[in-house]
Amino acid sequence: MDHFTLRDGVLHAEDVPLPAIAEAVGTPVYVYSRATIERHATVFREALAPLDDPHIAFAVKANPNLAVLRVLARQGYGADVVSGGELIRALAAGMKPADIVFSGVGKTHAELEQGLREDIGQFNVESEEEGYELAAIARRAGRAARCALRVNPDVDARTHEKISTGKSENKFGVPLDRATAIYTALAQEDGLDMRGIAVHIGSQLASLEPLEAAFAKVGALIGELRGAGCKVTHADLGGGLGVPYRAGEALPAPAEYGAMVARVTKDWNVRLMFEPGRVIAGNAGVLLTRVVRVKRGLTHPFLVVDAAMNDLARPALYGAWHDFEAVEPSGERMTAHIVGPICETGDTFAMDRECDALGAGHLAVFRTAGAYGATMASSYNSRGFVAEVLVDGDRFAVVADRIAPSAIMDAERMPDWLA
Ligand code: LLP
Repeated sequence: MDHFTLRDGVLHAEDVPLPAIAEAVGTPVYVYSRATIERHATVFREALAPLDDPHIAFAVKANPNLAVLRVLARQGYGADVVSGGELIRALAAGMKPADIVFSGVGKTHAELEQGLREDIGQFNVESEEEGYELAAIARRAGRAARCALRVNPDVDARTHEKISTGKSENKFGVPLDRATAIYTALAQEDGLDMRGIAVHIGSQLASLEPLEAAFAKVGALIGELRGAGCKVTHADLGGGLGVPYRAGEALPAPAEYGAMVARVTKDWNVRLMFEPGRVIAGNAGVLLTRVVRVKRGLTHPFLVVDAAMNDLARPALYGAWHDFEAVEPSGERMTAHIVGPICETGDTFAMDRECDALGAGHLAVFRTAGAYGATMASSYNSRGFVAEVLVDGDRFAVVADRIAPSAIMDAERMPDWLA
């Protein structure tokens, strides 16, 4: 459920008509709804109510906007970060260091030091090489880094191949059959406090089965580790729950997920941790855009909008579907190709899409753009970065300025020898 609804024929974000935002901030612009973020945070937390004191860390990569993170910090959420930049953001937004988990296969030496310096809650170590490097840094500082070992359960998440992470050929985690040996060896290190196992098999999962299969393997591993004399007090089950991108799409509800987790983990005797991203932020944002012009096409017209693949990359990258709706629908429909202005054919949001009839100057939204939207933007074609707005009831604020192409150019330098 979200708070983007038609009222008196005009699409609103909570109590704010979207044309008012377009007028004040211009287009394209990402618009987030605080009430929707809070609702999703609550629904997810309530879904985990059968568990004893679960730790929930929002996957910052899904939406790293500071104001969005602040809303989640106030909901008691921690953060799952994958870079020093995300760590700085999570702290700046008010997340407690102890509630921050650091994931990722390529944490640099400097990032490991940074995480240790900030005394974050947990490192999800993705290889034995990383484990030994972290141990050495921590030992020098006279510390012991709290760690989970991320395992690769070799489970097919049955999602888009680019966002599947739990197959043995993927770069993430250590193979299950080596996990006990690696965990036991790392547990000997003075600089490490090995305390658990982490797993994340992919994103936009449409079924609970692959998750359950992966969790069952983690459960067996925990038993094996304890049998080998290791301490295991935590298990991080990652994120991955899918959200509906099209009306009527059936996806597992958070409550079904929570019930499955409770059933599979009932004898684990650990503190469970979660890293949801999309399920919290996805449907809490839209990309508001204006039709530049309607161009005659061979079979259908091209609706050329002012947003492009640099602003919302998912359709170009993954062939992803985003619902497209007029802000002031007339009731008429049309079939169109919806494209951006960028000079490649990949800058196509949809082909042969049946949608609200639109003309030049009309406003429209791409829905479900609150996760992996603004954060994946680039400045390709020297288009700058779009603004982001957070709505709260009848008020709204710009929570990220539009970055003009000229501001990006300001960071470029002309060497003397070209002056
Ligand atoms: N934890 C880890 C270790 C992850 O790698 C991810 C996402 C998450 C949690 C959060 O997953 P979620 O709950 O959001 O599914 N750009 C792609 C999605 C990439 C996801 C990467 N990892 C997209 O636009 O679909």
